[in-house]
Amino acid sequence: MSKALDGVRILDFTHVQSGPTCTQLLAWFGADVIKVERAGEGDATRGQLRDIPDVDSLYFTMLNHNKRSVTLDTKKPKGKEVLEKLIKTCDVLVENFAPGALDRMGFTWERIQELNPRMIVASVKGFGPGPYEDCKVYENVAQCAGGSASTTGFDDGPPMVTGAQIGDSGTGLHLALGIIAALYQRNSTGRGQKVLAAMQDSVLNLCRVKLRDQQRLEQTGVMKEYPQYPDQHFGDAVPRAGNASGGGQPGSILKCKGWETDPNAYIYFITQGAVWPAVCKVIGEESWITDEAYATPAARLLHLKPIFARIEQWTMTKDKFEAMDILNKYDIPCGPILSMKEIAEEPALRATGTIVEVDHPTRGKYLTVGNPIKLSDSSTDVTRSPLLGEHTEEVMAQLGYSKDQIAALREEHVI
Ligand code: COA
Repeated sequence: MSKALDGVRILDFTHVQSGPTCTQLLAWFGADVIKVERAGEGDATRGQLRDIPDVDSLYFTMLNHNKRSVTLDTKKPKGKEVLEKLIKTCDVLVENFAPGALDRMGFTWERIQELNPRMIVASVKGFGPGPYEDCKVYENVAQCAGGSASTTGFDDGPPMVTGAQIGDSGTGLHLALGIIAALYQRNSTGRGQKVLAAMQDSVLNLCRVKLRDQQRLEQTGVMKEYPQYPDQHFGDAVPRAGNASGGGQPGSILKCKGWETDPNAYIYFITQGAVWPAVCKVIGEESWITDEAYATPAARLLHLKPIFARIEQWTMTKDKFEAMDILNKYDIPCGPILSMKEIAEEPALRATGTIVEVDHPTRGKYLTVGNPIKLSDSSTDVTRSPLLGEHTEEVMAQLGYSKDQIAALREEHVI
């Protein structure tokens, strides 16, 4: 089967998480991704959070599948020559260096354009143009600067970062989309272009509903679906909403049987208006179907805390999967709080290729998250991440270097 991005060649100058998630996706869609790393150390994540001594970490392997690895010192003149050849033969250069690093290496946008006017240069940076544009940024900085931390957590606690890597992997996704759009536009213009995904912007994009709420708050002074309503005070900025749904259908995380000992014995329960009578029947409060205090969504907003407390009395009598089975029969939207252990063992996720077991020559078998985007005419085969410099000779030969030239470059520590 052909792949969506067959024939697209990516010069992957990315490291850590944000950039590698982008190029991994492109590789899964069929692009030839050549990851350029420094000899000796390579991407810093190869050695970070190691669980097995001297073996590429899971951090690295899970972000760099389906790529080829080339070692190259791009600060040495001969290394720059190799990089120039790569720029001439690739379609996209993806990088997430600290601001200015590519320019300092001598590869400005203008220089890259001279070498290959069709090249798309795609960058992740922490911030877009403005006061912080020169800052180095990691995940949690982006979560804080993008509006996620101030709106996550409980009202009586500090701002919270979330475990979902919306700053890194989220920005990688945004960048991948920008690259695909630029490749598409190149079909008609023949020109490359710069693609920038700033981590602050990407996090803010994912927090779009909170900017919506900021303006609603300014307009009305209250937000009735927030847990602060009706008893507590609203300030002038969107408050932290705990586990409230944040949408038009109130929801909450509720305890299930076993919560005393199992930290994940919980269910997310949404009291969607359409199924309110069913909710009342399930929990044994049929009078609430017609009771004026509960009968309409607007009336219920005044009583969400006691409503969820009563539903929780019911959920605490069931384990989360039993509760799911019962609630699904009535089309009541709900979801179990799944631990990573449960997710790793979930057969349905294995069957769809969302969780994949991969074999690695030095690590052995490990689990990874496969391609979450399924294309019906471009299937994804997840292959292991490359060892450091595993494809250096192969790629150098493709660039026209002879065996002797490759050996000489190795002697000089260029590759
Ligand atoms: N050969 C020679 N030099 C290389 C090289 C290679 N193959 N690959 C990288 N380098 C050099 C860079 O040119 C840079 O040199 P310089 O500082 O002299 O210009 C140096 O390695 C370090 O790169 P840098 O990006 O500054 O790494 P860092 O470890 O200091 O910072 C980040 C890491 C993530 C903070 C930073 O890269 C960053 O802010 N990136 C943008 C935002 C981002 O993606 N953050 C999320 C990471 S998950």
